[in-house]
Amino acid sequence: MQKLVVLFAGSLLSTVSVADASKGEAYFSSLNGGQCHSCHRTDGKKSVGPGLEGVSQRHSGEWLASFLSDPQQMWTSDHPETEELKKRVRKSRSPRTLCKKNPMSGEELQDLLDYLSTL
Ligand code: HEC
Repeated sequence: MQKLVVLFAGSLLSTVSVADASKGEAYFSSLNGGQCHSCHRTDGKKSVGPGLEGVSQRHSGEWLASFLSDPQQMWTSDHPETEELKKRVRKSRSPRTLCKKNPMSGEELQDLLDYLSTL
């Protein structure tokens, strides 16, 4: 009986965590999706935007979720992680970010965050 309960809890957990890094990767590269790939490399090298290797170590999940939902709003906030980014890309005085706002569903955002955490 106890074994059954554990099995049941396990399968519940795997259905609850819907985030899927492979879907996030597809969204990242897709021209109909995020188009992130056109400005970001996934290694450490700069393209139009910073290379995203290790990005989930530079940023908290909360910051990433807010920034990806609305880059411009996060850009004008005085959040310490935004300040650090501005300094790093030498745009402390720029009123706008080049990072593109993408209307995405909550699920797409989760998948994307999951994918970014693998970089
Ligand atoms: C038009 C080019 C462009 C597109 C498209 C774009 N970005 Fe950006 N992104 C940038 C630039 C440039 C920056 C750095 C801030 C600046 O200079 O405005 C940035 C910053 C970021 C950062 C912060 C990186 C760090 O090192 O702190 C993340 C994360 C990010 N982008 C993710 C994404 C994702 C995910 C997508 C797709 C949904 C995306 N970007 C689409 C240009 C772009």
